[in-house]
Amino acid sequence: MKRRDFLKYGVGAGVAATGVLAWARGHMGMGHNMGGMNHDMGNMPNMNHDMGRMQGMGHGAQNLMPVTAMAAGAPLAALGLMPNRSKKFGLFQAELTAKPVMVTLAGGKQTELWAYNDSVPGPQIVVTEGDRVEIMFENQLSQPTTVHWHGLPVPSDQDGNPQDPVAPGERRLYQFTVPEGSAGTYWYHPHPHGHVSEQVAHGLAGTLIVKAKQDPLAHLPEQHWLISDLRLDINGRVPENTMLDWMNGREGQFVLVNGQREPKINISGEHRVRIWNACAARYLRLHIPNCEFILLGTDGGLLAAPQAPVTELFLSPADRVEVVVRTRQPGTYALQSLYYDRSKMMVKETPHTLTLGQVTVGAKVAALPRTLRKINDFGPVVARKRVVFSEEMGGGQHDMGEGGMGMSMMANMFRVNGKTYDMARIDLTSKVGEVEEWTVFNDSHMDHPFHLHGTQFMVISHSLNNRTVPAAYRAYKDTINLRPYETIVFKVVQKEKGLRMFHCHILEHENLGMMANLNVV
Ligand code: C2O
Ligand code: CU
Ligand code: CU
Repeated sequence: MKRRDFLKYGVGAGVAATGVLAWARGHMGMGHNMGGMNHDMGNMPNMNHDMGRMQGMGHGAQNLMPVTAMAAGAPLAALGLMPNRSKKFGLFQAELTAKPVMVTLAGGKQTELWAYNDSVPGPQIVVTEGDRVEIMFENQLSQPTTVHWHGLPVPSDQDGNPQDPVAPGERRLYQFTVPEGSAGTYWYHPHPHGHVSEQVAHGLAGTLIVKAKQDPLAHLPEQHWLISDLRLDINGRVPENTMLDWMNGREGQFVLVNGQREPKINISGEHRVRIWNACAARYLRLHIPNCEFILLGTDGGLLAAPQAPVTELFLSPADRVEVVVRTRQPGTYALQSLYYDRSKMMVKETPHTLTLGQVTVGAKVAALPRTLRKINDFGPVVARKRVVFSEEMGGGQHDMGEGGMGMSMMANMFRVNGKTYDMARIDLTSKVGEVEEWTVFNDSHMDHPFHLHGTQFMVISHSLNNRTVPAAYRAYKDTINLRPYETIVFKVVQKEKGLRMFHCHILEHENLGMMANLNVV
């Protein structure tokens, strides 16, 4: 079956598949680049059979474990620490192993997860600016992997690029120094070519914190919320991606904080809370009734000053924040994630609020300094780059034989500057130390979070519907969401030579090739 026939089925079908129709309308009628496709909507033989197959690959067909089958309501456990086995000041040494583990998570069923040091989430690495880090990694998975230090300015050959896979059974030493000024909230996860979605879906991800030598918030107790999701089928297995997962990104039915379902969380109002969105594709709009968040930091560390209180925190996949939570009415409230419409394809969602836990918030109020640190503009721009994210259908010659319909259609769908990822191709080149201005345009119908390796950038402006809004504050970011047809302008400087990736951080899109290589020379 040819790709164009697949689309014909979607559009021409009179069957009860409103999601398919909504998708087809959105994508064919609203300016999607159909790459010279034949728009004939005629009915085709075998339609019902193929529609059935397509539906069969959707969410509904997976027989999932009910959410209530996982125990909930235990006190929030702190993330386990990765012990430093070096006694030398300024040196962090540890061993990190990725391997399958069997656990019982829900419904009394055995689940095979893939874990770092037998732990999901992976152990937390805490280091201080200026520290030398040496981590001996061992791959005990049955497929290649890498460890990518998301957001950290580490040398390109230590950053777990897809070009540097660690084969099954192999070991490799990751070593780098965390530079001065890099204090912030990071994480690590696999980045091998073509396996990222599957490896993260099985549990491979952990947090990494770089502490500042001079920390204006050192007086505050810390708490960490790593938000991730997990999908289990009725037999307790982590199922394969459906076609809809590849299209929209995979969301698990279990949304967990530090690996726990709806934990009981206790904060005094003085806590500096670091939050990670480690979900492959789930967007979060965190809200706690009667409470406010004061934003103190983003991906790459503290802001220049605490921000005015807000009642909602938006975190796209891979985003991190540091906040304090305060209330005028101490009590216990739900930690919620409000509904966010990210224009998924072929899916019609009913807005719904998720409960992620119960938070007891105390009356104390954190004493916050008026300023946190200096964040300088990077200086005058000397080079410019343009990046376009797009979703395109057609143009390929792939045959969509039995069993391959969904994947082969999507293999070329998600693109950066018109192309899908090629490990060997250099897409853009930057010069070390040059201040660049990047314009990133989401020329598609769905939200995509843009991520750049190797450094932090500073967003200058957002433009949507012919309105340009300057960034509300200076912040170091490595991941920034783009609404459909939104343009973001940021400034960035790469400080080291080598190959860096930039991509959509919906991991299924990255996996399908919505990624490109930047060579820094
Ligand atoms: Cu968190 Cu290239 O990834
Ligand atoms: Cu990264
Ligand atoms: Cu994407």
